[in-house]
Amino acid sequence: MKNDIKLAVELIKAGKLVAFPTETVYGLGADASSDAACKKIYELKGRPGNNPLIVHGFCREQLEKVAIFNENAIKLTAFWPGPLTMVLPRKREAEIADCVTANLQTIAIRIPAHDIALELLKESNYLIAAPSANKSGLLSPTTSSHVLENFDPEEVYILKTDSKNKYGLESTIIDLQAETPTILRYGFITPDAIESVLGKKVTFASKTSEVKAPGMLHKHYSPKAKLRINAAELKGSEVGLNFGNSKLEGDFCFNLSKSGDLAEAAANLFDMLHRLDHLAKVHNKKCIAVAPVPNLGIGLAINDRIQKAAE
Ligand code: TXA
Ligand code: MG
Repeated sequence: MKNDIKLAVELIKAGKLVAFPTETVYGLGADASSDAACKKIYELKGRPGNNPLIVHGFCREQLEKVAIFNENAIKLTAFWPGPLTMVLPRKREAEIADCVTANLQTIAIRIPAHDIALELLKESNYLIAAPSANKSGLLSPTTSSHVLENFDPEEVYILKTDSKNKYGLESTIIDLQAETPTILRYGFITPDAIESVLGKKVTFASKTSEVKAPGMLHKHYSPKAKLRINAAELKGSEVGLNFGNSKLEGDFCFNLSKSGDLAEAAANLFDMLHRLDHLAKVHNKKCIAVAPVPNLGIGLAINDRIQKAAE
């Protein structure tokens, strides 16, 4: 075991916080059974107590100790390890701190597909509760330097990696309590992919529907600069984010994917928003203009994050 993982394992067992890379975004992790450790996550993030955390494990057997798997859940384990979070009934005897599930009867679980995350989980043999490693409401972190912009290394040990997070967007969340599953958050695993594994249709949580991730109620993914969506050209006070052959032209413009590849665009989204936000600040620009991104497949997740950032 590498020294940094060994140290991270000791810190998790001692009730400290460890930020670790996953295939989606960096997580801010703590021992999921420790109320004191998990409360520190809420405190440092400034996260409202009614917004529960995702519990990460390295294998299904470990997660079966805390959640009741139904037929749909068993089918969807085909996506694990990977960027899919399932919301299932919480087992009564689950050794999970109440603050992790915000006193709900359900629990959100996933197995991340990242070597470092999996090693940390395996070597500790602990379930780790981890939200994205950013302050509540701000952009999600896809590099260790993003994590450092949010947290003091005295309070959070950061497991670093040079490789880019593969997907760059948070996991898809699916509520599996009812016969018809409900997508609570779009992600890299698309509704079509889920429907083809389940062999049936899924529904979608809207702002007004009853089933939702409590996190949907809160402001999200906000850069400091304002965001203008569906922009066709750049105004003087703006920096720009293109997609494909869109035409936002100026000194400070990036392209999510020149070839129009939605997976590449998803992987670049948060990093480019971080960099544009920084450029806007330095060059006194007020707004990030974002070109249209097709609203299908992974584009659903990209547009969801862009719209929430613009709210
Ligand atoms: O990719 C990811 O999912 C990353 C990495 C670190 O795993 N984590 C992440 O966590 O995005 P966070 O806290 O930023 O988002 C978790 C979302 C929140 O919107 C929360 O409300 C929802 O999951 N959630 C957690 N437990 C839930 C539950 N029991 N029922 C419904 N929604 C739940
Ligand atoms: Mg988050």
